[in-house]
Amino acid sequence: MPPERQHTTLVAKQFEEQLGFYTSEARSARDSRIVSFLAETLARDASLRAQGRLRICEFGGADGILLRSLRERLGEALELTNAELVDAYRPRQASPAIRFVRTSILQPQFADASFDVVIARHVLHHLIGDTLGATRANQARAFAELARVTRPGGLVLVEEHLNPSAFACRLFYFLSRMATQLKMRLPWFEVTPYTVVAFLTPDEFHRAARHATQLQTLVEEPNPAPMPIQWRLTLLRRNSTNLFIALRRT
Ligand SMILES: C[S@@+](CC[C@H](N)C(=O)[O-])C[C@H]1O[C@@H](n2cnc3c(N)ncnc32)[C@H](O)[C@@H]1O
Repeated sequence: MPPERQHTTLVAKQFEEQLGFYTSEARSARDSRIVSFLAETLARDASLRAQGRLRICEFGGADGILLRSLRERLGEALELTNAELVDAYRPRQASPAIRFVRTSILQPQFADASFDVVIARHVLHHLIGDTLGATRANQARAFAELARVTRPGGLVLVEEHLNPSAFACRLFYFLSRMATQLKMRLPWFEVTPYTVVAFLTPDEFHRAARHATQLQTLVEEPNPAPMPIQWRLTLLRRNSTNLFIALRRT
């Protein structure tokens, strides 16, 4: 595979700037469908825990709030890894039980089949490349890497904001890109000199997921997620849905 081509400097600056939001104690992940789905699955499928301890890796977990919620809900027999691009989150992990690894979902250094459960929540739209095509290639590559590091029989759990309008997705990508070139800042619309976003339509999302041929869909459902007001104010995202998808690694 060609090397990753994400604008990591831009993404790192964006999330360093948003450190306050992504490490706020007011943030909670208890409502995430990932937490309830994993609890339900473990209750009826003991084979997921076959090794005794359940090895869970979240890519782009920021302060690890979701991993902490999983620990609170599922108990302590978990090995938790936060595989994050931005090192500034390292000292701000929500639980000392979390192992922080600075890496990219596009080129993680983990061996094949390292984890029983692998998670990516709201990461795909940040995998910005030089062009929209390169960005779509990054998003497909992320699914391939999620599949690679999951053991056969393990689970890949993804939550992502999708927008049904291909036009809106493209417009949002080009406008946010232009805003970074002009160094614009419009706080009410989450426009910053570092924020470029490439949301997917449901079709584009499924195409990216199919790139990982070893992944089989188990469940797919909308999961309404609370959003800060400035995200909701952005009219173009009015119709967007937060999709939860659970895939099994064959
Ligand atoms: C919108 S935030 C979501 C944070 C967390 N997953 C949540 O749902 O609260 C996106 C996160 O993805 C991380 N990220 C962006 N590109 C990444 C990459 N290539 N590999 C790993 N993490 C990445 C960012 O640093 C940021 O923490």
